[in-house]
Amino acid sequence: MQRIFSGIQPSGIPTLGNYLGAIQNWVGLQQDHECIWCVVDLHAITVFQDPKGLTAATREMAATLLACGVDPVKHVLFLQSSVRAHVQLAWIFNCVARLGWLNRMTQFKDKAGKDRENASAGLYVYPNLMAADIHAYHATRVPVGDDQKQHLELANDIAQKFNHDYGVEFFKNIEPLIMGPAARVMSLRDGTKKMSKSDPSDQSRINLNDDADTIALKIRRAKTDPEPLPSETEGLVDRPEARNLVGIYAALADTDHAGVLREHGGKGFGAFKQSLADLLVEKISPISQETTRLLADPSALDAILHKGSERAAAIADPIVAEAERLVGFLK
Ligand code: AMP
Ligand code: TRP
Repeated sequence: MQRIFSGIQPSGIPTLGNYLGAIQNWVGLQQDHECIWCVVDLHAITVFQDPKGLTAATREMAATLLACGVDPVKHVLFLQSSVRAHVQLAWIFNCVARLGWLNRMTQFKDKAGKDRENASAGLYVYPNLMAADIHAYHATRVPVGDDQKQHLELANDIAQKFNHDYGVEFFKNIEPLIMGPAARVMSLRDGTKKMSKSDPSDQSRINLNDDADTIALKIRRAKTDPEPLPSETEGLVDRPEARNLVGIYAALADTDHAGVLREHGGKGFGAFKQSLADLLVEKISPISQETTRLLADPSALDAILHKGSERAAAIADPIVAEAERLVGFLK
């Protein structure tokens, strides 16, 4: 059985983008893989987080993952900062990755923006830590949204250079799993921008804890164009907002763009948005209710994460210890 690893940052309330691009796929993959799911708090602080807010967001993320169907018993759910192996291997990878490679990372450029000199050093080496997350478990498949593809290519470059420099076949090649019709969910206000937890406008995203009225209102107000929906997928070219809403519908209804257009092609956005809002509420309301229920007992939640971290460390510690021996550290 192949081992899967994936992570998600506790940097705010998870969005519909996180759900459709990542979490929903994670749950399906649990059927035929050994899965390790990580709440990546070390990654979150590459951009300043208020400490109390970070603690709360960490529990909120863990509760949401459980509410979505992540199984902490058959699989592993844990907190990145609780397993030291991640930072130990990340340091080695900081010394393997080349500055030229990191300089090409588009997420750094986007997140650092114009004020690059003022970005944290952590934000710059973020992809090295992400590579360490995966390689510390010898995971071979990594389900992510489309925005993480470049980081996974870098993780493969790092593994290859490590193996080459130390003359070993130790770290494995990883395969990105970028799945479904909503691998890149866009902002509801601008079909060319990614839906994100950190967008200043709350109207740009659906949060997994939004109530039914808020969801319906956000979808009603979502930017669209004046044309009705096309009947064929070619008709979505150059219509990013229409394409986005159709993609969201498709992922929720477990079909593809063509399937949605077969049913809704020719309709105006008024009617389509109503069906989309109904479908969203049907999917998201149970998740948010279960999340609230789990958050009412923080010590039970912490115990699940603690247990997960012990199991994660039992896998990662020997792998990272071996990497340290290969580097020549006296163990
Ligand atoms: P993050 O919130 O940046 O930690 O992302 C966690 C996971 O959600 C990653 O696999 C991302 O690729 C995925 N993700 C985040 N935003 C989106 C989006 N707008 N569309 C699709 N997937 C996303
Ligand atoms: N960088 C990823 C994101 O922001 C989160 C992440 C951290 C991750 N470590 C990972 C994803 C390892 C997959 C595998 O979306």
